[in-house]
Amino acid sequence: MRIEQKIKVEFNYNIYFTHDVFNPQNTTLKKLMKEKRAKIMVFIDSNVHSCWPDIKDRIHQWFDTYPDAGTIVKPIAIVKGGEECKTNFKYFKIISQFIKDSKLDRNSFIIIIGGGAVLDAVGFVASITYRGIPHIRIPTTVLSQCDSGIGVKNAINFYNEKNYFGTFMPPYGVINDFNFLKTLKTRYWIAGISEAFKVAIIKDNSFLNFLISNTEKLKKREQRTMGKIIYYSAKLHAEHISKGNDPFEKTSKPLDFGHWAAHYIESKSKYRINHGEAVAVGIILDMTIAKNRGLINKNEYEMVYNALKNFGFKLWYDSLLNKGKNKFLEIYDGLEEFRRHLGGKLTLIMPDGLGNRCEISDISHREIVSALLEMKKNYETQ
Ligand SMILES: NC(=O)c1ccc[n+]([C@@H]2O[C@H](COP(=O)([O-])OP(=O)(O)OC[C@H]3O[C@@H](n4cnc5c(N)ncnc54)[C@H](O)[C@@H]3O)[C@@H](O)[C@H]2O)c1
Ligand SMILES: [Zn+2]
Repeated sequence: MRIEQKIKVEFNYNIYFTHDVFNPQNTTLKKLMKEKRAKIMVFIDSNVHSCWPDIKDRIHQWFDTYPDAGTIVKPIAIVKGGEECKTNFKYFKIISQFIKDSKLDRNSFIIIIGGGAVLDAVGFVASITYRGIPHIRIPTTVLSQCDSGIGVKNAINFYNEKNYFGTFMPPYGVINDFNFLKTLKTRYWIAGISEAFKVAIIKDNSFLNFLISNTEKLKKREQRTMGKIIYYSAKLHAEHISKGNDPFEKTSKPLDFGHWAAHYIESKSKYRINHGEAVAVGIILDMTIAKNRGLINKNEYEMVYNALKNFGFKLWYDSLLNKGKNKFLEIYDGLEEFRRHLGGKLTLIMPDGLGNRCEISDISHREIVSALLEMKKNYETQ
């Protein structure tokens, strides 16, 4: 006997781009909420809250102007910004306690305003509470507007492993508000650009050239240029997720070129090195391996290396040569952790010329060592 069960679940969500989402003239959130009139709980990244001290009042005023959009429950919650909120389990409890105290249910909504870490941490708790309270993301960093905030994943770090606990739960909607970027520290303004490089190198050479040719404007924090970079990067990421009807990565691979080493670098630094900063080093490590395999040529390699260097990315850390178990470098274990995250089979995305990609299923220890020594030499001679 057998009962055949087939369930199809479709997710549709919009990614909006705007300025000053809580200006009473701005109707983006109203469009997104579609007159749901539900209870809404808001979480704000603590650093966003410090930089925008009137944000709570503005949110209340906005909802007073558009009561059909929903009812804000009090208090608006502030969550510690940065990787700490994903790493220290104390914040998992604080976030879930806020939700419990607010008496939300599955017809309520959670709005999350913040960097990639706060979006991941609150999004994770939202996605497992009552088997999923819908969440709306308002990403406030370059990285989260380019990449993390528009995707379908939520996670927290545990057992010293990046994103150990997590869910595939798409947001109800996303609003990229460029205004928030004004208060971002230059460090994070630059760091997020590495995710745009990542997607450009493996998907779109003209986007890569656009990024490189706008280095000076981006370094001067020209908002309009950054807006274009974010829009295009978000578009490429969103298309990758929806294409192939495999958003939960059963068979297709995430856009994680340069990420196996990045995750290792971040966690080994105890998250002092931010995700975007680590991705830049991970990109260069994989580009070096790709060059040594003949997948890209020396000119292509140097173009990307110099571009990331010109943006101010630090492209070498001595800890990359830390010795681990069995005479292997510690970073080599990062490959094993990454394999588990991918579901058992190691598949790494590599550039195949600039703007194209291919997949490889192994990297030897010897290749990694030789690429790292080359990176160290490059760093020391420049
Ligand atoms: N879910 C995914 O698919 C996905 C994809 C990529 C990255 N990520 C995750 O995203 C995280 C990195 O995100 P991030 O680069 O945004 O870093 P972040 O969230 O740590 O933010 C960087 C810093 O900027 C502060 N901040 C945020 N917005 C601000 C603003 N407008 N003004 C002033 N300060 C502000 C934050 O509090 C933090 O201190 C990592 O945990 C990474 O794993 C997730
Ligand atoms: Zn990333």
